[in-house]
Amino acid sequence: MTAPLTSSAPRLALRADLLDFTADPGFAAPHAAPGVRLRPDHWLLIEHGRIAGVLPGPQEPDASWQREEHPGCLLTPGLIDTHVHSPQLDVIASYGAQLLDWLNTYTFPAELRYADPAVSAAGAQRFVQALLACGTTTAVVFPTVHKVSADALFAEAHRLNMRLVTGKVLMNRFAPPGLLDDVACARRDCVDLIERWHGNGRQSFAVTVRFAPTSTPEQLAMAGELCAAHPGIYMQTHVAENRDEVRWVRELYPEARSYLDVYAQAGLLNPRAVLAHGIWLDDHDRALLREHGAQIAHSPSSNLFLGSGLFNWAQAEEQGVRVSLASDVGGGTSLSMLRTMADAYKVQALQGNRLTAWKALHACTLGAAQHLGLADEIGSLEVGRAADLAVWNLAHGVVGEHRLSMARDWHEKLFAWMTLGDERNLVRTFVAGRPALSFS
Ligand code: GUN
Ligand code: ZN
Repeated sequence: MTAPLTSSAPRLALRADLLDFTADPGFAAPHAAPGVRLRPDHWLLIEHGRIAGVLPGPQEPDASWQREEHPGCLLTPGLIDTHVHSPQLDVIASYGAQLLDWLNTYTFPAELRYADPAVSAAGAQRFVQALLACGTTTAVVFPTVHKVSADALFAEAHRLNMRLVTGKVLMNRFAPPGLLDDVACARRDCVDLIERWHGNGRQSFAVTVRFAPTSTPEQLAMAGELCAAHPGIYMQTHVAENRDEVRWVRELYPEARSYLDVYAQAGLLNPRAVLAHGIWLDDHDRALLREHGAQIAHSPSSNLFLGSGLFNWAQAEEQGVRVSLASDVGGGTSLSMLRTMADAYKVQALQGNRLTAWKALHACTLGAAQHLGLADEIGSLEVGRAADLAVWNLAHGVVGEHRLSMARDWHEKLFAWMTLGDERNLVRTFVAGRPALSFS
Protein backbone atom coordinates (compact mmCIF):
# COMPACT_ATOMS: atom_id res chain seq x y z
CA MET A 1 0.00 0.00 0.00
CA THR A 2 2.90 2.37 -0.51
CA ALA A 3 2.12 3.51 -4.05
CA PRO A 4 2.22 7.31 -4.46
CA LEU A 5 -1.12 8.93 -3.67
CA THR A 6 -0.41 12.08 -5.65
CA SER A 7 2.01 12.76 -8.45
CA SER A 8 2.34 16.53 -8.53
CA ALA A 9 2.29 17.68 -4.88
CA PRO A 10 5.51 19.26 -3.62
CA ARG A 11 7.64 17.81 -0.85
CA LEU A 12 6.14 19.28 2.28
CA ALA A 13 7.53 19.53 5.84
CA LEU A 14 5.13 20.34 8.71
CA ARG A 15 6.52 21.47 12.08
CA ALA A 16 4.29 20.89 15.13
CA ASP A 17 3.83 18.67 18.18
CA LEU A 18 3.23 15.22 16.67
CA LEU A 19 0.82 12.84 18.45
CA ASP A 20 -0.16 9.36 17.37
CA PHE A 21 -0.34 5.82 18.80
CA THR A 22 1.64 2.63 18.40
CA ALA A 23 -0.77 0.51 20.50
CA ASP A 24 -4.10 0.73 22.32
CA PRO A 25 -3.72 2.74 25.57
CA GLY A 26 -6.74 0.81 26.92
CA PHE A 27 -8.51 1.96 30.07
CA ALA A 28 -5.18 2.38 31.91
CA ALA A 29 -4.61 5.55 33.95
CA PRO A 30 -3.23 8.51 31.94
CA HIS A 31 0.34 8.12 33.16
CA ALA A 32 0.44 4.34 32.78
CA ALA A 33 -1.12 4.22 29.32
CA PRO A 34 0.90 2.29 26.72
CA GLY A 35 1.19 3.15 23.04
CA VAL A 36 1.20 6.97 23.26
CA ARG A 37 3.74 8.49 20.86
CA LEU A 38 4.15 12.19 21.53
CA ARG A 39 6.93 13.99 19.70
CA PRO A 40 6.86 17.70 20.66
CA ASP A 41 8.38 20.07 18.10
CA HIS A 42 9.13 17.74 15.20
CA TRP A 43 8.96 17.95 11.44
CA LEU A 44 6.70 15.55 9.57
CA LEU A 45 7.95 15.04 6.01
CA ILE A 46 5.40 14.37 3.25
CA GLU A 47 6.18 13.20 -0.28
CA HIS A 48 3.78 12.00 -3.00
CA GLY A 49 0.91 12.26 -0.53
CA ARG A 50 2.55 9.91 1.99
CA ILE A 51 4.52 10.34 5.20
CA ALA A 52 8.19 10.14 4.29
CA GLY A 53 9.93 10.75 7.63
CA VAL A 54 10.19 12.63 10.91
CA LEU A 55 12.93 14.99 12.09
CA PRO A 56 13.48 16.79 15.43
CA GLY A 57 12.50 20.48 15.22
CA PRO A 58 16.02 21.98 15.34
CA GLN A 59 17.07 19.71 12.45
CA GLU A 60 15.56 21.72 9.58
CA PRO A 61 14.79 19.86 6.36
CA ASP A 62 16.76 21.11 3.35
CA ALA A 63 15.49 23.59 0.77
CA SER A 64 13.93 20.86 -1.37
CA TRP A 65 11.09 20.74 1.20
CA GLN A 66 8.35 23.35 1.31
CA ARG A 67 8.16 24.25 5.02
CA GLU A 68 5.11 25.05 7.11
CA GLU A 69 5.50 25.78 10.83
CA HIS A 70 2.72 25.47 13.42
CA PRO A 71 4.45 26.23 16.74
CA GLY A 72 2.50 25.03 19.77
CA CYS A 73 -0.04 23.22 17.58
CA LEU A 74 -0.85 19.54 17.70
CA LEU A 75 -0.54 17.42 14.56
CA THR A 76 -2.56 14.19 14.60
CA PRO A 77 -3.59 11.66 12.00
CA GLY A 78 -6.85 12.74 10.32
CA LEU A 79 -9.77 11.53 12.41
CA ILE A 80 -11.95 8.56 11.47
CA ASP A 81 -15.73 8.62 11.98
CA THR A 82 -17.00 5.03 11.67
CA HIS A 83 -20.72 5.78 11.43
CA VAL A 84 -22.45 8.89 10.08
CA HIS A 85 -25.42 9.68 7.82
CA SER A 86 -24.74 12.24 5.08
CA PRO A 87 -28.38 13.26 4.37
CA GLN A 88 -29.06 13.83 8.04
CA LEU A 89 -27.33 17.21 8.10
CA ASP A 90 -30.86 18.21 7.03
CA VAL A 91 -32.34 17.05 10.36
CA ILE A 92 -29.49 17.33 12.87
CA ALA A 93 -30.80 18.87 16.12
CA SER A 94 -34.47 17.88 15.69
CA TYR A 95 -36.57 18.09 18.84
CA GLY A 96 -38.25 15.64 21.06
CA ALA A 97 -38.26 12.07 19.74
CA GLN A 98 -36.69 8.69 20.42
CA LEU A 99 -35.40 6.50 17.60
CA LEU A 100 -38.51 5.09 15.90
CA ASP A 101 -40.51 8.34 16.09
CA TRP A 102 -37.45 10.33 15.10
CA LEU A 103 -37.00 8.19 11.95
CA ASN A 104 -40.65 8.58 10.91
CA THR A 105 -41.03 12.24 11.86
CA TYR A 106 -37.77 13.75 10.68
CA THR A 107 -35.37 11.36 9.00
CA PHE A 108 -37.40 9.48 6.42
CA PRO A 109 -39.08 12.66 5.07
CA ALA A 110 -35.64 14.29 4.72
CA GLU A 111 -34.11 11.27 2.98
CA LEU A 112 -36.89 11.23 0.35
CA ARG A 113 -35.42 14.38 -1.23
CA TYR A 114 -32.19 12.56 -2.15
CA ALA A 115 -33.90 10.78 -5.05
CA ASP A 116 -33.10 14.03 -6.89
CA PRO A 117 -29.54 13.89 -8.30
CA ALA A 118 -29.07 17.63 -7.73
CA VAL A 119 -30.00 17.28 -4.05
CA SER A 120 -27.65 14.28 -3.73
CA ALA A 121 -24.76 16.12 -5.39
CA ALA A 122 -25.15 19.29 -3.32
CA GLY A 123 -25.64 17.21 -0.16
CA ALA A 124 -22.49 15.16 -0.80
CA GLN A 125 -20.39 18.30 -1.29
CA ARG A 126 -21.75 19.97 1.83
CA PHE A 127 -21.25 16.81 3.87
CA VAL A 128 -17.67 16.12 2.78
CA GLN A 129 -16.67 19.75 3.37
CA ALA A 130 -18.26 19.61 6.82
CA LEU A 131 -16.28 16.47 7.70
CA LEU A 132 -13.01 18.05 6.59
CA ALA A 133 -13.87 21.19 8.58
CA CYS A 134 -13.87 18.94 11.68
CA GLY A 135 -10.52 17.28 10.88
CA THR A 136 -12.25 14.05 9.82
CA THR A 137 -10.52 12.55 6.80
CA THR A 138 -12.11 9.08 6.68
CA ALA A 139 -15.74 8.16 7.29
CA VAL A 140 -18.04 5.17 7.04
CA VAL A 141 -21.21 6.73 5.69
CA PHE A 142 -24.91 5.96 5.23
CA PRO A 143 -26.38 7.93 2.31
CA THR A 144 -29.99 7.03 1.36
CA VAL A 145 -31.69 4.15 -0.43
CA HIS A 146 -31.17 5.98 -3.72
CA LYS A 147 -28.23 4.75 -5.77
CA VAL A 148 -27.58 8.31 -6.89
CA SER A 149 -26.90 9.38 -3.28
CA ALA A 150 -24.10 6.80 -2.97
CA ASP A 151 -22.74 7.68 -6.40
CA ALA A 152 -22.62 11.37 -5.45
CA LEU A 153 -20.70 10.66 -2.24
CA PHE A 154 -18.19 8.40 -3.97
CA ALA A 155 -17.68 10.97 -6.74
CA GLU A 156 -17.09 13.86 -4.33
CA ALA A 157 -14.68 11.91 -2.11
CA HIS A 158 -12.84 10.61 -5.18
CA ARG A 159 -12.49 14.13 -6.54
CA LEU A 160 -10.74 15.12 -3.29
CA ASN A 161 -8.72 11.88 -3.07
CA MET A 162 -10.37 11.29 0.30
CA ARG A 163 -10.99 7.83 1.75
CA LEU A 164 -14.67 6.99 2.16
CA VAL A 165 -16.63 3.80 2.84
CA THR A 166 -20.27 3.84 1.72
CA GLY A 167 -22.97 2.07 -0.28
CA LYS A 168 -26.62 2.55 -1.12
CA VAL A 169 -28.92 1.88 1.84
CA LEU A 170 -30.94 -1.35 1.68
CA MET A 171 -34.54 -1.03 2.91
CA ASN A 172 -37.60 -2.72 1.45
CA ARG A 173 -40.31 -2.35 4.12
CA PHE A 174 -41.69 -0.12 6.91
CA ALA A 175 -40.74 3.20 5.31
CA PRO A 176 -42.42 5.61 2.86
CA PRO A 177 -42.73 4.17 -0.68
CA GLY A 178 -40.12 6.61 -2.03
CA LEU A 179 -37.55 5.08 0.32
CA LEU A 180 -38.14 1.43 -0.57
CA ASP A 181 -36.17 -0.74 -2.97
CA ASP A 182 -36.75 -4.37 -3.93
CA VAL A 183 -34.36 -7.26 -3.57
CA ALA A 184 -33.48 -7.78 -7.24
CA CYS A 185 -33.06 -4.11 -8.08
CA ALA A 186 -31.09 -3.43 -4.89
CA ARG A 187 -28.72 -6.30 -5.71
CA ARG A 188 -28.13 -4.91 -9.22
CA ASP A 189 -27.48 -1.41 -7.85
CA CYS A 190 -25.00 -2.75 -5.30
CA VAL A 191 -23.12 -4.84 -7.85
CA ASP A 192 -22.91 -1.86 -10.18
CA LEU A 193 -21.58 0.38 -7.38
CA ILE A 194 -19.06 -2.29 -6.35
CA GLU A 195 -17.79 -2.62 -9.91
CA ARG A 196 -17.46 1.11 -10.42
CA TRP A 197 -16.29 2.28 -7.00
CA HIS A 198 -14.86 -0.44 -4.77
CA GLY A 199 -11.08 -0.08 -4.90
CA ASN A 200 -11.36 2.87 -7.27
CA GLY A 201 -8.75 5.25 -5.80
CA ARG A 202 -9.50 5.45 -2.09
CA GLN A 203 -13.16 4.42 -2.24
CA SER A 204 -14.60 1.29 -0.59
CA PHE A 205 -18.07 -0.18 -0.85
CA ALA A 206 -20.18 -1.22 2.14
CA VAL A 207 -23.28 -3.38 2.02
CA THR A 208 -25.50 -0.94 3.91
CA VAL A 209 -28.43 -2.58 5.69
CA ARG A 210 -30.39 0.21 7.41
CA PHE A 211 -31.49 -2.10 10.24
CA ALA A 212 -33.25 -5.44 10.59
CA PRO A 213 -36.81 -3.98 10.75
CA THR A 214 -36.62 -2.27 7.34
CA SER A 215 -35.34 -5.31 5.43
CA THR A 216 -37.22 -8.54 4.75
CA PRO A 217 -35.40 -11.79 5.52
CA GLU A 218 -34.97 -12.18 1.73
CA GLN A 219 -33.18 -8.85 1.52
CA LEU A 220 -30.91 -9.68 4.46
CA ALA A 221 -30.05 -12.97 2.76
CA MET A 222 -29.18 -11.08 -0.44
CA ALA A 223 -26.97 -8.72 1.59
CA GLY A 224 -25.17 -11.72 3.09
CA GLU A 225 -24.65 -13.17 -0.40
CA LEU A 226 -23.07 -9.90 -1.54
CA CYS A 227 -20.64 -9.99 1.41
CA ALA A 228 -19.70 -13.59 0.59
CA ALA A 229 -19.27 -12.89 -3.13
CA HIS A 230 -17.06 -9.81 -2.62
CA PRO A 231 -14.70 -10.56 0.30
CA GLY A 232 -13.06 -7.10 0.36
CA ILE A 233 -16.22 -5.08 0.86
CA TYR A 234 -17.57 -3.75 4.17
CA MET A 235 -20.94 -4.23 5.87
CA GLN A 236 -22.61 -1.54 7.95
CA THR A 237 -25.85 -1.48 9.91
CA HIS A 238 -27.45 -0.56 13.24
CA VAL A 239 -28.01 -2.96 16.13
CA ALA A 240 -29.65 -2.84 19.58
CA GLU A 241 -29.81 0.94 19.86
CA ASN A 242 -33.18 1.47 21.50
CA ARG A 243 -35.40 -0.74 23.66
CA ASP A 244 -38.55 -0.33 21.52
CA GLU A 245 -36.48 -1.17 18.45
CA VAL A 246 -35.16 -4.34 20.13
CA ARG A 247 -38.75 -5.39 21.03
CA TRP A 248 -39.85 -4.80 17.43
CA VAL A 249 -37.02 -6.94 16.05
CA ARG A 250 -38.04 -9.72 18.47
CA GLU A 251 -41.58 -9.61 17.01
CA LEU A 252 -40.38 -9.52 13.40
CA TYR A 253 -37.77 -12.28 13.79
CA PRO A 254 -39.19 -14.58 16.52
CA GLU A 255 -36.91 -17.45 15.53
CA ALA A 256 -33.70 -15.46 16.16
CA ARG A 257 -31.97 -15.76 19.56
CA SER A 258 -31.34 -12.00 19.59
CA TYR A 259 -31.28 -8.90 17.40
CA LEU A 260 -27.62 -9.52 16.57
CA ASP A 261 -28.41 -13.15 15.74
CA VAL A 262 -30.64 -11.92 12.87
CA TYR A 263 -27.52 -10.51 11.21
CA ALA A 264 -25.41 -13.56 12.10
CA GLN A 265 -27.97 -15.90 10.49
CA ALA A 266 -27.91 -13.78 7.33
CA GLY A 267 -24.11 -14.05 7.06
CA LEU A 268 -23.56 -10.36 7.76
CA LEU A 269 -20.98 -10.59 10.55
CA ASN A 270 -17.32 -10.51 9.55
CA PRO A 271 -14.17 -8.48 10.39
CA ARG A 272 -15.30 -5.76 7.97
CA ALA A 273 -18.71 -5.34 9.62
CA VAL A 274 -19.42 -2.05 11.41
CA LEU A 275 -22.48 -2.12 13.66
CA ALA A 276 -23.60 1.14 15.22
CA HIS A 277 -24.63 1.34 18.89
CA GLY A 278 -24.88 -2.19 20.39
CA ILE A 279 -26.19 -0.80 23.69
CA TRP A 280 -28.72 -3.55 24.42
CA LEU A 281 -26.58 -6.63 23.71
CA ASP A 282 -25.90 -9.52 26.09
CA ASP A 283 -22.82 -11.65 26.80
CA HIS A 284 -23.73 -14.12 24.03
CA ASP A 285 -23.96 -11.30 21.52
CA ARG A 286 -20.62 -9.88 22.59
CA ALA A 287 -19.05 -13.33 22.23
CA LEU A 288 -20.54 -13.53 18.71
CA LEU A 289 -19.08 -10.13 17.79
CA ARG A 290 -15.71 -11.23 19.13
CA GLU A 291 -15.78 -14.51 17.18
CA HIS A 292 -16.55 -12.69 13.93
CA GLY A 293 -14.18 -9.77 14.59
CA ALA A 294 -17.02 -7.30 13.91
CA GLN A 295 -16.84 -3.83 15.46
CA ILE A 296 -19.27 -1.62 17.35
CA ALA A 297 -19.31 2.03 16.27
CA HIS A 298 -20.03 3.67 19.61
CA SER A 299 -22.05 6.84 19.03
CA PRO A 300 -22.29 8.66 22.35
CA SER A 301 -23.83 11.98 21.32
CA SER A 302 -26.56 10.16 19.42
CA ASN A 303 -27.22 7.80 22.32
CA LEU A 304 -27.63 10.74 24.68
CA PHE A 305 -29.64 12.91 22.28
CA LEU A 306 -32.13 10.17 21.28
CA GLY A 307 -32.29 8.89 24.87
CA SER A 308 -31.19 5.45 23.67
CA GLY A 309 -29.03 4.30 26.60
CA LEU A 310 -25.48 3.98 27.84
CA PHE A 311 -23.03 1.79 25.93
CA ASN A 312 -20.50 0.16 28.26
CA TRP A 313 -17.26 0.51 26.29
CA ALA A 314 -14.98 -0.99 28.98
CA GLN A 315 -17.21 -4.06 29.37
CA ALA A 316 -17.39 -4.60 25.60
CA GLU A 317 -13.60 -4.49 25.30
CA GLU A 318 -13.12 -6.76 28.32
CA GLN A 319 -15.22 -9.29 26.40
CA GLY A 320 -13.08 -8.92 23.29
CA VAL A 321 -15.35 -6.68 21.21
CA ARG A 322 -13.71 -4.14 18.91
CA VAL A 323 -15.00 -0.60 19.49
CA SER A 324 -14.56 2.58 17.46
CA LEU A 325 -16.10 6.04 17.83
CA ALA A 326 -18.74 7.64 15.64
CA SER A 327 -20.74 10.85 15.39
CA ASP A 328 -23.93 9.21 14.04
CA VAL A 329 -25.12 12.59 12.80
CA GLY A 330 -28.05 13.38 12.63
CA GLY A 331 -29.04 11.31 15.69
CA GLY A 332 -25.69 12.63 16.88
CA THR A 333 -25.44 16.35 17.42
CA SER A 334 -22.01 17.19 16.00
CA LEU A 335 -19.68 15.98 13.25
CA SER A 336 -16.77 16.99 15.50
CA MET A 337 -14.93 13.92 16.78
CA LEU A 338 -13.66 16.09 19.66
CA ARG A 339 -17.23 16.63 20.80
CA THR A 340 -17.84 12.93 20.25
CA MET A 341 -14.85 12.05 22.47
CA ALA A 342 -16.11 14.44 25.16
CA ASP A 343 -19.54 12.79 25.09
CA ALA A 344 -17.92 9.35 25.19
CA TYR A 345 -16.12 10.38 28.38
CA LYS A 346 -19.45 11.38 29.99
CA VAL A 347 -21.22 8.19 28.93
CA GLN A 348 -18.41 6.12 30.48
CA ALA A 349 -18.34 8.33 33.59
CA LEU A 350 -22.02 7.55 34.21
CA GLN A 351 -21.03 3.88 34.39
CA GLY A 352 -17.96 4.29 36.61
CA ASN A 353 -15.41 3.99 33.77
CA ARG A 354 -12.71 6.56 33.06
CA LEU A 355 -11.87 7.33 29.46
CA THR A 356 -8.49 9.00 28.98
CA ALA A 357 -7.81 11.45 26.17
CA TRP A 358 -5.29 8.87 24.90
CA LYS A 359 -7.85 6.09 24.64
CA ALA A 360 -10.45 8.39 23.06
CA LEU A 361 -8.07 9.73 20.41
CA HIS A 362 -6.67 6.27 19.73
CA ALA A 363 -10.23 5.08 19.02
CA CYS A 364 -10.67 7.62 16.23
CA THR A 365 -7.20 7.12 14.73
CA LEU A 366 -5.16 3.91 14.93
CA GLY A 367 -7.93 1.92 16.64
CA ALA A 368 -10.53 2.62 13.96
CA ALA A 369 -7.94 2.09 11.22
CA GLN A 370 -7.05 -1.34 12.64
CA HIS A 371 -10.69 -2.37 13.04
CA LEU A 372 -11.36 -1.34 9.42
CA GLY A 373 -8.30 -3.29 8.22
CA LEU A 374 -6.71 -0.03 7.05
CA ALA A 375 -3.88 0.45 9.54
CA ASP A 376 -1.27 0.07 6.77
CA GLU A 377 -2.83 3.07 5.10
CA ILE A 378 -4.29 5.51 7.67
CA GLY A 379 -4.57 6.21 11.39
CA SER A 380 -0.95 6.90 12.37
CA LEU A 381 2.10 8.99 11.51
CA GLU A 382 4.22 5.99 10.47
CA VAL A 383 6.39 6.38 7.39
CA GLY A 384 4.48 5.13 4.34
CA ARG A 385 0.99 6.01 5.64
CA ALA A 386 -1.20 8.40 3.67
CA ALA A 387 -0.67 11.98 4.79
CA ASP A 388 -4.27 12.40 6.00
CA LEU A 389 -3.65 14.84 8.85
CA ALA A 390 -5.18 17.43 11.14
CA VAL A 391 -3.40 20.38 12.76
CA TRP A 392 -5.03 21.71 15.93
CA ASN A 393 -4.88 24.61 18.31
CA LEU A 394 -5.03 23.07 21.76
CA ALA A 395 -7.44 25.77 22.88
CA HIS A 396 -9.81 28.40 21.58
CA GLY A 397 -11.62 31.12 23.49
CA VAL A 398 -11.00 32.58 26.93
CA VAL A 399 -11.96 29.51 28.93
CA GLY A 400 -10.00 27.09 26.75
CA GLU A 401 -6.90 29.31 26.71
CA HIS A 402 -7.04 29.76 30.48
CA ARG A 403 -7.52 26.05 31.18
CA LEU A 404 -4.63 25.20 28.86
CA SER A 405 -2.37 27.65 30.71
CA MET A 406 -3.15 25.80 33.96
CA ALA A 407 -2.50 22.30 32.58
CA ARG A 408 0.36 20.55 34.35
CA ASP A 409 1.15 17.79 31.88
CA TRP A 410 0.39 16.56 28.39
CA HIS A 411 -2.61 14.46 29.37
CA GLU A 412 -4.22 17.44 31.11
CA LYS A 413 -3.66 19.50 27.94
CA LEU A 414 -5.10 16.83 25.69
CA PHE A 415 -8.04 16.15 27.98
CA ALA A 416 -8.94 19.87 28.07
CA TRP A 417 -8.56 19.98 24.26
CA MET A 418 -10.95 17.09 23.78
CA THR A 419 -13.43 18.23 26.45
CA LEU A 420 -13.60 21.93 25.55
CA GLY A 421 -12.70 21.76 21.86
CA ASP A 422 -14.46 21.30 18.55
CA GLU A 423 -13.99 22.32 14.91
CA ARG A 424 -12.99 25.82 16.05
CA ASN A 425 -9.70 24.32 17.25
CA LEU A 426 -8.83 23.08 13.77
CA VAL A 427 -6.04 24.91 11.92
CA ARG A 428 -5.68 22.77 8.81
CA THR A 429 -6.76 19.44 7.33
CA PHE A 430 -4.58 17.56 4.85
CA VAL A 431 -5.88 14.82 2.57
CA ALA A 432 -3.20 12.70 0.92
CA GLY A 433 -0.69 15.48 1.64
CA ARG A 434 -2.73 18.28 0.11
CA PRO A 435 -4.27 21.03 2.23
CA ALA A 436 -7.98 20.32 2.09
CA LEU A 437 -8.95 23.17 4.37
CA SER A 438 -7.15 25.93 6.19
CA PHE A 439 -8.43 28.28 8.86
CA SER A 440 -5.25 30.18 9.71
N1 GUN B 1 -31.57 2.94 13.00
C1 GUN B 1 -32.05 2.82 11.74
N2 GUN B 1 -31.83 3.95 11.03
C2 GUN B 1 -31.19 4.79 11.86
C3 GUN B 1 -30.70 6.12 11.70
O1 GUN B 1 -30.80 6.75 10.65
N3 GUN B 1 -30.09 6.67 12.80
C4 GUN B 1 -29.95 6.00 13.98
N4 GUN B 1 -29.35 6.59 15.00
N5 GUN B 1 -30.42 4.76 14.14
C5 GUN B 1 -31.04 4.16 13.10
ZN1 ZN C 1 -26.87 5.71 12.46
